Amino acid sequence: MKDVDGLIADIRGKLDKQVPGKCRAIVGASGGIDSTVAAVLAHETLKDRVTSLFVDNGLLRAGEVEKTVRLFNEAKIPHKVLNAKDEFLDALKGVDDPEEKRVIIGKTFAHLFEREALSTGAEYLIQGTIAPDWIESGGSLRDTIKTHHNVGGMPKDMSLKVVEPLRDLYKDEVRALATRLGISTPQRQPFPGPGLAVRVIGEVTEERVDTVRKANLAVEETVERAVSEGRMAKPWQYFAVLLPLKNTGVKGDYRTYGEAIAVRMVESVDAMTATASQVPHEVLREISERITREVGNRINRVVYDVTDKPPATIEWE
Ligand code: XMP
Repeated sequence: MKDVDGLIADIRGKLDKQVPGKCRAIVGASGGIDSTVAAVLAHETLKDRVTSLFVDNGLLRAGEVEKTVRLFNEAKIPHKVLNAKDEFLDALKGVDDPEEKRVIIGKTFAHLFEREALSTGAEYLIQGTIAPDWIESGGSLRDTIKTHHNVGGMPKDMSLKVVEPLRDLYKDEVRALATRLGISTPQRQPFPGPGLAVRVIGEVTEERVDTVRKANLAVEETVERAVSEGRMAKPWQYFAVLLPLKNTGVKGDYRTYGEAIAVRMVESVDAMTATASQVPHEVLREISERITREVGNRINRVVYDVTDKPPATIEWE
């Protein structure tokens, strides 16, 4: 790994060259570590020629909009929040194929950025794409494993020119940059660009997103409490997935027929490979109890995914 100051100088040099003269740019900032690092460096380098845009696509985790706005304020990133929940849910209506979902989400982001660019006069879109995003979108592997919404998912005819100053970096390098830049959450877990849409297996509806959001909060809070009590180490990534797997349960004297939540926790360095985390059984039981108690009648079964990557991927879609 190159030294951190050398990496920062390289990235600023690339931004200077790729967004020349008086040209203006938009940063697609999600609050994730990659795009936050890209936004901080873009604002430092291009000053008032750049605007950061945070899109609330309705596919975010509980409390994420508020947390992200706080993060941007702390990192002194001037930004605008766009509420586009209805636009994304409408575009995803009736779609259950994972790749189709990713492409639709990419297109919807692109249209929003293009619309915004018209009002700021921007010609360039700066993104926090890193190496695993494009490698797994078919950049060098033989097959497209997943279309990351910010790579293959972006329409070819988009009017904005895409600038990806972090595209040769891996996650551990981006984390080192974030620490150096004083971004307060370098240990934040990764979250996919298409958000909870790829954690709702099958059709994405507002109700199903809400179900997985509540289940995910149960996983996050239970794990974080167990970590703070010294009962387990913090996994690299930990989340819930809603499975359209009808199964029979029982509540009081009544039969229920609901769906299932899969809990996924993995250890990884660069997301290219991962191992399923070894989690104390009591923590898994607490998660299961909380999800079946709080998430509503829809869920009557919770399972733990013990598969490594490969052969599985980290996300289910
Ligand atoms: P997979 O599921 O491919 O995920 O093993 C590897 C890592 O990448 C995250 N991920 C994404 N990140 N856009 C992103 O920015 C995406 O479309 C995307 N899909 C997966 C995933 O959460 C894991 O950390």
